[in-house]
Amino acid sequence: MLWTRNQGTPVVLLVQPLSGTSASGLYKTCASSGSGLGKRYLVTGAAGFIGYHAAAKLRSRGDVVVGLDNFNDYYPVSLKRARAQALVDMGVPVVELDLNDQEGLGELFRLCSFTHVLHLAAQAGVRYAARNPFAYIQSNVAASVSLMETMRLQKPMPLLVYASSSSVYGLSKRFPFTEDDRADRPASLYAATKRSLELLAHSYFNIYRMSVTGLRFFTVYGPWGRPDMSVMAFARNIVDGKPIRVFQGPNATELARDFTFVEDIVAGVLAALDSAAPSNDPHAEPQNRLYNLGNTQVHTVTEMVRTLEELLGMKANIRYQPLGATGDVLRTNANITAAHNELGYTPQTNLRAGLQAFVEWYFQYYGADGKRRPADEVGYIPD
Ligand SMILES: NC(=O)c1ccc[n+]([C@@H]2O[C@H](COP(=O)([O-])OP(=O)(O)OC[C@H]3O[C@@H](n4cnc5c(N)ncnc54)[C@H](O)[C@@H]3O)[C@@H](O)[C@H]2O)c1
Repeated sequence: MLWTRNQGTPVVLLVQPLSGTSASGLYKTCASSGSGLGKRYLVTGAAGFIGYHAAAKLRSRGDVVVGLDNFNDYYPVSLKRARAQALVDMGVPVVELDLNDQEGLGELFRLCSFTHVLHLAAQAGVRYAARNPFAYIQSNVAASVSLMETMRLQKPMPLLVYASSSSVYGLSKRFPFTEDDRADRPASLYAATKRSLELLAHSYFNIYRMSVTGLRFFTVYGPWGRPDMSVMAFARNIVDGKPIRVFQGPNATELARDFTFVEDIVAGVLAALDSAAPSNDPHAEPQNRLYNLGNTQVHTVTEMVRTLEELLGMKANIRYQPLGATGDVLRTNANITAAHNELGYTPQTNLRAGLQAFVEWYFQYYGADGKRRPADEVGYIPD
């Protein structure tokens, strides 16, 4: 069941009748002890791509998990609803709430005394900023402050693990990117807001002794992926027989990415949650950590498309285009030494294996011919 706050009602209220839990489901979940140790996880952005996978993985190991999402329509909402429904079916109640709603957040924290907050909600995407810059300020900056303000008032204060991005390295030409590289030359508004989140988290660590861990994800792909990102957007166009746009930099250099499979990312996320110190611990120094989570194997976008073609069994119609002032960077590449040494993070999945898993899911979701489209996906064109 999905839940939303109803004005004037002190409890969350059913808005979207889905099979699964009942009104008492959220209460039950919050009151239960799960796998023990009294841990309770809030996952923001749980109806999103990575949030869905992270919440599902936590639940599968027996943890008490509540998801939160505002179900905005940046990309087709039917996909977010389908992910949320799958979580509900696993025993993860999903609350429909915008993080900027501080009153609603306060109620949720009163209902469920979370020990761990995994903050993945965000306005993602680099190019959409040309159309809606304020969405990035609202969801990445203001909403994060709203969440951290609510968290710092809790007794005991939960710890925070949050999503940052490889985009914070911006115009850096030092490869691979390392956590202590400069991150003050963002190429996009998205990157500027993700770096702002890192700085804001640092201030909550400094002032309130909040335990904060930022994870800089590198181009994540996999089942239940994001339709605005290249892997999924290209797969749809290839199946539909439509051309795909591949951007090129100066002198026809190809864009290259450190494509990282979502299950590897989730393993890093869980390791960060499990190793984080508690907030405001009188016996320990407060913790402020920052890690790259990438794969380290860099592929050009054309290499990714060629592998996708093979796995789909269809040819792509590639149209190369010069990269305009979109905010995209030419290349990303992660140094993951810190995450490896301190979190035991070791990505396991190469691009072909990860794309294979994606393609299998794709044909489950979009039907055997890959062409079934929920109503809100008809005519959807990513930025
Ligand atoms: N996917 C990637 O390659 C990638 C790379 C780097 C960083 N990240 C970061 O990882 C996180 C998860 O990314 P994703 O790919 O799953 O994106 P996503 O868009 O699928 O998920 C984000 C979710 O947050 C929700 N949301 C947005 N604003 C909200 C608000 N104000 N209140 C409540 N919910 C809100 C959205 O509805 C969405 O479901 C994001 O913080 C993103 O910036 C992702």
